[in-house]
Amino acid sequence: MKPPVDLQIPLIPDTTVLPPALEFFPRFRYMGSKFRLLPWIHQTFQDLDFETATDAFSGSGVVSFLLKAMGKQVRANDSLAFPSVLTAATVANSATKLDAADVEFLLTSKARTPAECFIRRTFDGIFYTPAELSFLDDLWAGIREIDSPFKRAVALAAILRSAIKRQPRGLFTVSDPGRYQDGRRDLQLTLREHFIEQVASYNAAVFSNGKRNSCTCGDVSELKTGSDLVYMDPPYVPLADDNCYIKRYHFLEGLACYWEGKEIMMTSKVRKIVKPFTPFSYRSTAIDAFDRLFGQFADSTLVLSYSSNAFPDLATLRKLMGRYKRSVEVLEKTHRYHFGTHQAAKRNVVQEYLIIGT
Ligand SMILES: C[S@@+](CC[C@H](N)C(=O)[O-])C[C@H]1O[C@@H](n2cnc3c(N)ncnc32)[C@H](O)[C@@H]1O
Repeated sequence: MKPPVDLQIPLIPDTTVLPPALEFFPRFRYMGSKFRLLPWIHQTFQDLDFETATDAFSGSGVVSFLLKAMGKQVRANDSLAFPSVLTAATVANSATKLDAADVEFLLTSKARTPAECFIRRTFDGIFYTPAELSFLDDLWAGIREIDSPFKRAVALAAILRSAIKRQPRGLFTVSDPGRYQDGRRDLQLTLREHFIEQVASYNAAVFSNGKRNSCTCGDVSELKTGSDLVYMDPPYVPLADDNCYIKRYHFLEGLACYWEGKEIMMTSKVRKIVKPFTPFSYRSTAIDAFDRLFGQFADSTLVLSYSSNAFPDLATLRKLMGRYKRSVEVLEKTHRYHFGTHQAAKRNVVQEYLIIGT
């Protein structure tokens, strides 16, 4: 059955109903990103009374950025390293930009030791061209020399976004040593050219909302926060396919920390990083994980993003949240995926939920 038109979510959200700073957010193509749902999430947040907020599974960072733009004191967290770099650059950072001298320094830096040439050695023939892999090593040699943590974060965020734009479909699941071309500008520019553009994008996104915002990288179970509101957008146990972030984005995860402390599977064709365990991804552990999650943040207003094509179902989650909150309200929106044939698109209609516990 066709959902009512006014319930469908547009491909590009109506940014006029969002705080003006959102215009400068460097959109990051990320599985499960709530970018298209932002106007709805914003409207929901506006109706709730809070001053401080935690985004416990920050991903692309867009919801953290929205909360910052709303003037809230924000804590962003994700268990992966690269989402934390994105929120360091755009959320925790309130004033630091890369100037022309910084960019010149980075673009002329050179990797010197074999250890600093890890990327060209490891990913040759897998992703990008040899010249681009060398550029990444050289750039990283420069980034290591930068003392300011926020300057480093801006530089890293810029190269992360460059890397995903330059990669076909924005995924690192199959090898493509810079060959695939569909005429799109993003695939034509080199990583160096992208980087120069992305520094400008991330510089433009820097602003202060007058609050001390912060970001962390860690498992949600370790997260201590006394925020008035906790927004939760964990990975879902999918009913089909899989939801593995590391399979899709392992290169970005490595690039964010120069693969330091990361275990690479050298037998995998694309040199994947070993998958970190998260209880939200498995049927056997998800219900207990949600129960503990709601219990952990029981003193805060809870806002959970969820979707009808996931496990556990809405009724279970509602009941679980009800164990810790007096009132549980569910807001619902129809989301239609815009890909595939007409028939496939019909199957791709899902309900998006915001489950709110107060
Ligand atoms: C659906 S995405 C979040 C998307 C984000 N709200 C956005 O709009 O871009 C889920 C995120 O949860 C993170 N994650 C998975 N398990 C986690 C855990 N146990 N603790 C913290 N973060 C976790 C993943 O790395 C991923 O970035």
